Amino acid sequence: MSVIDGGTILVTGASSGIGMAIARLVASRAKAVVLVARRVDRLEELKRTLTEARKELRVEVIGCDLSSRDDIAKLVAEVATRGLDIDVLVNNAGIGMMGSFERADAAKTTFMIDLNVTSLTLLTLAFLPGMVERDRGGVLNVSSGFGLGVTPLFAAYIATKHYVTGFTEGLCADLAGTNVVATQICPGPVATEFEQTMGNTTDAKIPAFIEISAEQCARTAVRAFEQGRALVVPGLVMKVVMLLNQLSPRFMRRAFASILGRYARAKKLA
Ligand SMILES: NC(=O)c1ccc[n+]([C@@H]2O[C@H](COP(=O)([O-])OP(=O)(O)OC[C@H]3O[C@@H](n4cnc5c(N)ncnc54)[C@H](OP(=O)(O)O)[C@@H]3O)[C@@H](O)[C@H]2O)c1
Repeated sequence: MSVIDGGTILVTGASSGIGMAIARLVASRAKAVVLVARRVDRLEELKRTLTEARKELRVEVIGCDLSSRDDIAKLVAEVATRGLDIDVLVNNAGIGMMGSFERADAAKTTFMIDLNVTSLTLLTLAFLPGMVERDRGGVLNVSSGFGLGVTPLFAAYIATKHYVTGFTEGLCADLAGTNVVATQICPGPVATEFEQTMGNTTDAKIPAFIEISAEQCARTAVRAFEQGRALVVPGLVMKVVMLLNQLSPRFMRRAFASILGRYARAKKLA
């Protein structure tokens, strides 16, 4: 039996996209789900639909701006006050930023680093000790295909996702010999609000054949976690792209990225 069956699962960024899809998926089997994001109205609506579908499910809503360390500390304290032992932490909340880095906004950049890097780290630090003590559960981190490669116009976002990738691999090594799991998913484009929040600086549309749904992404993520896999790339097309990327020597990847970078600059894409 998986830890998701009858477990307590905390999902950050459950108010939309991949996080909401993961919350919906685990809600059919968990004892309790803890929904975290800033838009509490959306979390309350999700809570209503989840509890309507399954009366015995406990759903806790906690509003939190994960870019704020004070808010993170309050979230951790609130989880303890409500008597919740987190079995599975889904570090999903995140934003992207597009554009040449020399024109990046400093406040938005630090907000993204606080959210994508610091909150994921602090939440893991808060809930992992309990998992190790109970010798069950794990962390499911949502990284990105950008966590495995390099492309122009996303320097700081890429860096945050390389952190998630390196951090999760490090956790896997730390947790060897325990029954606690660390899994990361590295999706390519997923149809969510992400692109809209990030602000696409080009006219380019993501080709439909490469984009997957949030539900497909969530299914792959939960399956990989339950199989104890360290890393999974959802979607067949992205699997092939990422495999080719990983097989190419670094100088080739860099050369390809620099061709794209010159093109973007010449076309004034950002
Ligand atoms: N969509 C893609 O193409 C794609 C590809 C690869 C990786 N990813 C990763 O997938 C993860 C989820 O993104 P998504 O695609 O599902 O995008 P999304 O639909 O925009 O969802 C982002 C979630 O993060 C939450 N969030 C944003 N800022 C927050 C803050 N300061 N505090 C708390 N929660 C915050 C949002 O909730 P509130 O606004 O209500 O706070 C929302 O629930 C991200 O880590 C992203 O990097 C996405």
